[in-house]
Amino acid sequence: MDVLKVENVNFNYGSHKILTNLNFSMENNQVIGLFGDSGSGKSTFCKVLTGFIKEYEGTVTINGEVPQGGFNPIQLIYQHPEKVMNPRWKMRDVLEESWMPDDNLLDEFGIKREWFNRYPSELSGGELQRFSILRALNPNTKFIIADEISTMLDAVTQAQIWDSLLKLARKNNVGVLVVSHDKKLLNRICDSIVYLSDITE
Ligand SMILES: Nc1ncnc2c1ncn2[C@@H]1O[C@H](COP(=O)(O)OP(=O)(O)O)[C@@H](O)[C@H]1O
Ligand SMILES: [Mg+2]
Repeated sequence: MDVLKVENVNFNYGSHKILTNLNFSMENNQVIGLFGDSGSGKSTFCKVLTGFIKEYEGTVTINGEVPQGGFNPIQLIYQHPEKVMNPRWKMRDVLEESWMPDDNLLDEFGIKREWFNRYPSELSGGELQRFSILRALNPNTKFIIADEISTMLDAVTQAQIWDSLLKLARKNNVGVLVVSHDKKLLNRICDSIVYLSDITE
């Protein structure tokens, strides 16, 4: 079993306190929802968890150890996949930078092979998000932090994407933190829900 643990984390933007004495933990067989109002610090917390923000107080550990160097076992998926893809890379390279899933998985995520030769600007938001989810589900990933990843998608695409993601995460024992302001979605797909306001002071 893998345990992700956040202990006594403090983070401010200048004089603006965002995360105060935050404590949280989850296991790799869980799908946990993180709920909070817009602007309450959810995305900031996601960046702390996945190392995109480094200058915080406190610790983020897996099984008691701080992840370091190389591939990060805590992977972030963003709301806007196009913002984190190199616009000059074709989709094959975007995916392969992490790993290359087999045909079954590509089919499971509805990825058409013809998309491989396109640039990010030549795919829809839903198509791009399929790539970014699969990219994050590298075999070395232990936890996925999904920050509003289906907010921009229509209901059908949203349901398909969550089905595929959660199926693979459960199969591979990857823990998923589902970050959203959409309570209905969290109720539908999560084992339990945590309120950001309850884990910070
Ligand atoms: N890079 C930044 N510099 C300064 N303030 C920021 C920055 N990013 C976010 N904030 C502020 O921090 C607060 C929390 O933002 P965020 O973590 O994005 O909230 P949420 O994801 O819950 O909507 C907001 O008040 C936001 O304006
Ligand atoms: Mg946010």
